[in-house]
Order: sequence, then C-alpha cells, then structure tokens
Amino acid sequence: MPGIYVHIPFCKSKCIYCDFYSIALPSLIPDFCNALKKEIESRSNTFSGKTINTIYFGGGTPSILEIENIEKILSKIHKNYIVANNAEITLEANPENISLEYLVELKRIGINRLSIGIQSFDDEILKFLKRRHSASNAIECVKTAKECGFDNISIDLIYGITGLSNEMWRKELITAFSLPITHLSCYCLGIEEGTLLHRYYRENRYTPTNDDTCLRQFLDFDKMSAENGFTHYEISNAGKNGWHSKHNSSYWNRSEYLGFGPSAHSFVANSRSWNIENTSEYIKCISEGKPYSTSETLTSSDILEEYIMLGLRTAKGIKLDKTEELFGIIKSNKLRKAISKLNPAHIHFDGNSLSLTANGMFVSDNIILILLQEL
Ligand SMILES: C[S@@+](CC[C@H](N)C(=O)[O-])C[C@H]1O[C@@H](n2cnc3c(N)ncnc32)[C@H](O)[C@@H]1O
Ligand code: SF4
Repeated sequence: MPGIYVHIPFCKSKCIYCDFYSIALPSLIPDFCNALKKEIESRSNTFSGKTINTIYFGGGTPSILEIENIEKILSKIHKNYIVANNAEITLEANPENISLEYLVELKRIGINRLSIGIQSFDDEILKFLKRRHSASNAIECVKTAKECGFDNISIDLIYGITGLSNEMWRKELITAFSLPITHLSCYCLGIEEGTLLHRYYRENRYTPTNDDTCLRQFLDFDKMSAENGFTHYEISNAGKNGWHSKHNSSYWNRSEYLGFGPSAHSFVANSRSWNIENTSEYIKCISEGKPYSTSETLTSSDILEEYIMLGLRTAKGIKLDKTEELFGIIKSNKLRKAISKLNPAHIHFDGNSLSLTANGMFVSDNIILILLQEL
C-alpha cells in the first residue's frame, strides 16, 4: 500500500544528538512550501491509479509550519493523488510549539496521528540534549492533544543517555504509559558524526553509556510495553493492537512510497531515490526545472539484503519459503545454514519463520551481518 512522506527541513535550533537534515532558516519557508507543492504535483503520475494509505509529515519540525501551509500541502496531495478515506495522516510535533488552538486546527485539516518528540521527562536531561521544552510542557502537550480529539498519539523517548540511570529510565516509562498514548518509540542514543554530541565525544567531554546499561534499558522498554498492553513490534517501536504505525510499517514491509522535500527518500518499482539535502538548492532546482534527486535500481541481491535487514527489525521477522520463492532455493539454503550459526537465545526459528528475541533485537546489526556474510 503506497505512502507519502513530506520532509519539513526546519527547526528552531539543533538538538545535540540529531543528524536529521534540518536548518534554522525560517525565512526560506515560503519558497520551500511553493517548491514542495510543485514537486508534489510534478510526480503525481508515479502513483496514478494507486490509493495512498499513509501520509507522514516528518522533519525537522513540521509543527513549525503555520496551519495554512500544512493545509495547502495536504490539499495539493489530495488534488494530485487518490488518498484513502481512512488514510493514516501523521505529523511530527515538538512540544514547544504546540498550543491548543494549533492542535484543534491540525485535527480540522485532517491530521489524525501525532508523533510527539519528547525524548525525556527529566528537565536536566532535556537541557543536556538542548531541547527547547520542559518535561511538563511535553506532558501537557500529550494531554491537550487527547482533549482535542487525537486518539492516535505516539511519543518518542531516548534511552542510553549518560546520566540516565536504569531507575530513572523505568520512571520515564511509567510516565509514558500513564499518558493517553497508543504508541511509543524508544531509541538508543546514537552518537552521529557531525552532531554536537559527536564533538563532545571526540573531545572526551561525553562518555557513552556502556552496552550493559543500554541493553537493560532496552529490555525494560520491551517488558514494560508488554505489561501495559503494547506490542513491541519493531526494534524501536511498541503500540497498542490496531495502532501500530502504518506508515513506518510500510518501510519495513518494503511497500512503495514517495518522499517530497529536501533529503526525502522514495522507493518505487525497486528503485530507491533521494532528494538533494540542501533546501536552497532544492528550491532553486525545482524552480529552474533542474534535477534534484539521485536514484539507484536495486539488484536481486540488494533486494534480498533489504528483505533480511528490514524484516528482522520487526517482530514478524522473515520467512524462508518467501526467500525461496523470491530468490531461489540456493539462497534460501544458504540462509538456513547461516541461521544454524546464530545464538539460539537470540532467535525464534520454527524451520520457516525467523524472528529475533528481545536480546537478539538489541544485537540485530551483528546478527544481520552474520546472515549476509553467508549469502
Ligand atoms: C526526525 S526526529 C525529530 C522529530 C521532532 N522534530 C522532535 O525533535 O521532536 C525523530 C526522532 O528520532 C530520534 N532521534 C533523532 N536522532 C537520534 C539519535 N542520535 N539517537 C537516538 N534517537 C534519535 C528522536 O527521538 C526524534 O524524536
Ligand atoms: S530532534 Fe527534532 S527538533 Fe531536534 S534537531 Fe532533530 S529534528 Fe530538530
């Protein structure tokens, strides 16, 4: 089921850990919105006759945009694509720029799912991460969203932060599950090149949390999700039944999607493409009719690698009969042999379906490497 991703590349400032493409140049917003609408229109043939099931506004900080701009972008999508009546339409929102009026308007224009970036309920940690909101702003934001009629609310938290003890993390999870949410994403803090956190790390001003603590915190996420009626259906994601992210699930299922905006990726007919990661250049290329994206067509082995890498992120995992059907008996036999080398404590394997246990999910990169080396 195809989806649409819209990248809004603006943030008020940069958080210490984040390497998602965003800039703090709000003066570019009007030209960006015009370019974005042109891109949406110009690529409409790609999905002609197909029904869009999910639309996702990600960033950056989509909630930095005025309602009028989001409404116009949405209406451009509706005019140029067939959007299912019950489509999941998500917007990533930062707690600091969300008011009751803004939420009411978001609901009115058709946003039906919010993904709120909270990261932590500890004010000291929020300060360290250079977030622009407090814990109480974040809690208020979730409660207000619920009062405004949002039934589908997801929040993001980060664990594995030095200074976040196991006890503090469990308290964070208790707070999260006490809120009216249907979905929770928990990410282990990554030290990405180019970020301020990476600089602190290089200069020995930040010591990463050890693996044992990260594993403990990941296992608490897994356990407390189950205790609160959430299924841990992907490494970093847990949701109540019926409320798993349809949009993100389509990435892991390798469904097609079109990504609009600078740095956005698309996947259509076994070709992956990505837009230029520079907002001024993006605007210029679109207005001058010049190319603004690069693409590659996947080979059969790329597809097999993706099937394994994406599938094993999820609780559903992968199936050997499907591997055989798509890639032949030789590959599927090699995969079976590789599976026999894995630590039994890391996998569920019934002879056909392979998925990872919680301990396995935590080391999924290594497991995937072992499997791919054998293919
Ligand atoms: C596109 S980002 C930002 C969404 C939104 N702008 C916000 O900050 O609330 C989506 C999520 O990725 C996570 N994230 C980004 N960089 C990360 C990192 N280096 N390590 C762990 N999680 C990260 C954060 O939880 C963040 O909310
Ligand atoms: S985490 Fe969100 S608000 Fe912070 S820099 Fe990244 S995209 Fe912007």
